[in-house]
Amino acid sequence: MRLATVIKKGVGKAVFKHSDMEDLRRVLKGLQDSPEATGVTWVVTDGVFSMEGDLGNLPGLRALCDEFGAMLVVDDSHGTGVMGETGRGTHEYWGMQGKDIDLFTGTLGKALGGGAGGYVAGTQAAIDMLVQRGRPTLFSNALPVTVACSAAKAIETMLNEPERVQRLRDNVAYARKGISEVGFEVLESPTAICPIIVGETSRAISMSNTLLDMGVFAIGFGYPVVPEGAARIRIQISAAHEQEHLDRLIEALRALSVQD
Ligand SMILES: Cc1ncc(COP(=O)(O)O)c(C=O)c1O
Repeated sequence: MRLATVIKKGVGKAVFKHSDMEDLRRVLKGLQDSPEATGVTWVVTDGVFSMEGDLGNLPGLRALCDEFGAMLVVDDSHGTGVMGETGRGTHEYWGMQGKDIDLFTGTLGKALGGGAGGYVAGTQAAIDMLVQRGRPTLFSNALPVTVACSAAKAIETMLNEPERVQRLRDNVAYARKGISEVGFEVLESPTAICPIIVGETSRAISMSNTLLDMGVFAIGFGYPVVPEGAARIRIQISAAHEQEHLDRLIEALRALSVQD
C-alpha cells in the first residue's frame, strides 16, 4: 500500500500526494473551510511503505494533525519489530511516544512471525468503540488462541532481546552493501525492505523464479501492485538470517547479473 489518506464524514476520502506535507495541508485546509465536512478528520498513513521501504513522515503528520484537530492513524505492519532501537515501530525511529499516534495498527504476520492476525492500539475509548462497531470483531471469529499466545511470546522476546533488532540492522546493512556490489541498485531506506527495480513485470517474475531455483525466496512485484514499468524484486531481510544465507543471496544475484 502506498497510500496516505484523509477521511472525513460528509466528504468521504481524499488522498494526499505521497509524503507531501504541503499537499496534506491543502487537503486539511479545504476540509476546515468546507461547510459539508462534519465530525472527526482521520489522517491515515503507513509507518513503513511496503513497496519502497520509505517512511511516513510521522512528526510532520502529527504536527499537521495537531494544527487541524485531526486524528493520526498509522499502519505500522512493516515497522513493528523492525524500526526504532527496541523495534517498537516507526514512531520510535522518529523519537516519538506511542501516545503520539492516536490509532496504531499492525500485523502479527511479519516480524512477529505469526501467519495471521493483527492488532489495533489506541485509547480505551477508541478500542471499546472498535470492539462494538468493527466488522471483524462483530462478525468474525476471534484470533485462534495459539496465534494470540505465539504473538504475545514474540512481543515478549522482542522486548527482552533487543539485540535481535540490532542483528536485523546489521544484516540489512550487509545485504544492501552486497546487493550493490554485485551490480544491482537497491532503493535506500532504514528499513528491512530492499527493493531492486527491474522494469517490466515479466522480468521481475522470471528473475524471482530463477532466484527460487537457486534457493533464494524473493518475490517479484509488478503492475498493478506497483506502477507500470517499475516492477521489482523485493528482498526482505530477517534477524534470523545467518551470514551464510546473506552470502547465498548475494552470490545468486551475482550469477543473475551475469546471465542478465
Ligand atoms: C502496510 C500493510 N498493512 C497490512 C498488511 C496486511 O497484513 P495482514 O496480512 O496481517 O492482513 C500488509 C500486507 O502485506 C501491509 O503491507
